[in-house]
Amino acid sequence: VHEISRVKNLNSIQMGRHEVETWYFSPYPQEFAHADMVYICEFCLCYFLSKKQLERHCLKCQLQHPPGNEIYRHEDLSFFEIDGRKQKTWCRNLCLLSKLFLDHKTLYYDVDPFLFYCMTLRDEYGCHLIGYFSKEKESAEGYNLACILTLPQHQRHGYGRLLISFSYELSKVEGKIGSPEKPLSDLGLLSYRAYWTETIVGLLLETNEDITIDEISQRTAITPQDIMHTLQNISALKYYRGQHIICLGDKVIENYEKQKKKKRRVIVPEKLQWKPIH
Ligand code: COA
Ligand code: NA
Repeated sequence: VHEISRVKNLNSIQMGRHEVETWYFSPYPQEFAHADMVYICEFCLCYFLSKKQLERHCLKCQLQHPPGNEIYRHEDLSFFEIDGRKQKTWCRNLCLLSKLFLDHKTLYYDVDPFLFYCMTLRDEYGCHLIGYFSKEKESAEGYNLACILTLPQHQRHGYGRLLISFSYELSKVEGKIGSPEKPLSDLGLLSYRAYWTETIVGLLLETNEDITIDEISQRTAITPQDIMHTLQNISALKYYRGQHIICLGDKVIENYEKQKKKKRRVIVPEKLQWKPIH
């Protein structure tokens, strides 16, 4: 019985003006397990069994953005840094919500060791959560990202790419290189591959001199291993006269140009106002 209840629980959530079907089990309290719809306050992420309860809550809820420091703002896009130790309830609510869309990652009840970087879009009502990533305050393995989520209602609009890009901008400020925690989900891997490919190919195309893997790593904060895998993946690594050389095929360049034509938001590094905690 216990196993069955872990397979499928609440079916859908309502958040802001979006209704979203859930993907995976998340350990919301027992009384939510069989609800058809759970109503979530998009600002404090508290959850309710009825629309009425949510409406009553919204009359009192004071939050208009994630409860942390705004460390980035460009146009209507902001990032807030939230310390799991200082905002336990909010961060636990975020973990519960994101577990609905994450299949394999363990849910961290202990949010203390993590920082949460939450991306929002602003309108006259407040800063609406689009997605986030978590990051260990100290990662022995050199991970610069633990979990990443774009809320399903906002997926495939380039926001995952922005989250990933932001995680590397933080690493650059720290003077470190980093990599996401493994294993990545299928969607996570697709998004990282796309980001790595675009970033590395872009750098190679704008550089005229010879460049080594280590130099690419220093400029992008991507680890040499992730760079190697990416280059292998796009068949850009050739072995010539006893050494590896990087050589971009026509198809790779064509794909890059096609991606560039999609006019999408980018992270503007100068807009980041942030110092590492440690
Ligand atoms: N199918 C195929 N390619 C996909 C894809 C999908 N469903 N989702 C992302 N990609 C690839 C594409 O190359 C895409 O670029 P394109 O749209 O120009 O083709 C690129 O990734 C970036 O997509 P983007 O729109 O920036 O990503 P997103 O906002 O949808 O977020 C995740 C990506 C991974 C954050 C999102 O899918 C998610 O939250 N998934 C659930 C949680 C999860 O699995 N997290 C990772 C493990 S911790
Ligand atoms: Na579910």
